[in-house]
Amino acid sequence: MEFDNYASHLPVFEKVFAAFEIKKVLEFGLGKFSTSFFVNHAEFVVSVEQESEEWYEEIKARINSPNWRPVFQPDPKVVFEQFDADNQKPDLVFSDGAARTRCLVANLAMERNVPVVVLHDAEKIWHYKWNLLCIPANYARFNFRHRKDVNKVTTILANDNQSILEQWDIPDHDRILQAYSSPCQPVISLHIEICRSQGLIGQAK
Ligand SMILES: C[S@@+](CC[C@H](N)C(=O)[O-])C[C@H]1O[C@@H](n2cnc3c(N)ncnc32)[C@H](O)[C@@H]1O
Repeated sequence: MEFDNYASHLPVFEKVFAAFEIKKVLEFGLGKFSTSFFVNHAEFVVSVEQESEEWYEEIKARINSPNWRPVFQPDPKVVFEQFDADNQKPDLVFSDGAARTRCLVANLAMERNVPVVVLHDAEKIWHYKWNLLCIPANYARFNFRHRKDVNKVTTILANDNQSILEQWDIPDHDRILQAYSSPCQPVISLHIEICRSQGLIGQAK
């Protein structure tokens, strides 16, 4: 299969669905890859578009499934509060929506102890403000880097079953860092090490 930059997360999701009992999914950021995958693998999926009405309509026209509920809502708090009001908790939250709220989505999910929280584009620390992640001590963080695009990182934050993730072998992916919890921000030091090893910056004094 040809490598597609925008689908670097799908092999990771295949592993997640094989290892965890994922029935209910809440995703932010509709798209051609994750949304169909979730609809085909989960019992119930809520997909939230935050920014583009046009994109929302386009994806709605492509997917027609009784287990899928598309929602247009810019504010993730409103969506999580609706889940709270319905006494519902997703088994997995995927943060791939509006840049300004990607970190907020992950934090709102972890505040609710959602078992698996997945971050797309975790390497873009400042753009998505991942430095503001507030990872509770019961979560571990696993970063999966795509080997064909070292800059593409998908992160799994899990509050249980962490040893399963430690043993994973995902074709085309490296598991680059493991088991950090707040306030550590390990991706930063990793990037510095990569740059040093490639001679892009000088050695530490
Ligand atoms: C990276 S996409 C979501 C991808 C999706 N989770 C997937 O894996 O297929 C995130 C957001 O980008 C915006 N977007 C992506 N492609 C777009 C397009 N062609 N036109 C307008 N907005 C787009 C939408 O707002 C969408 O929610």
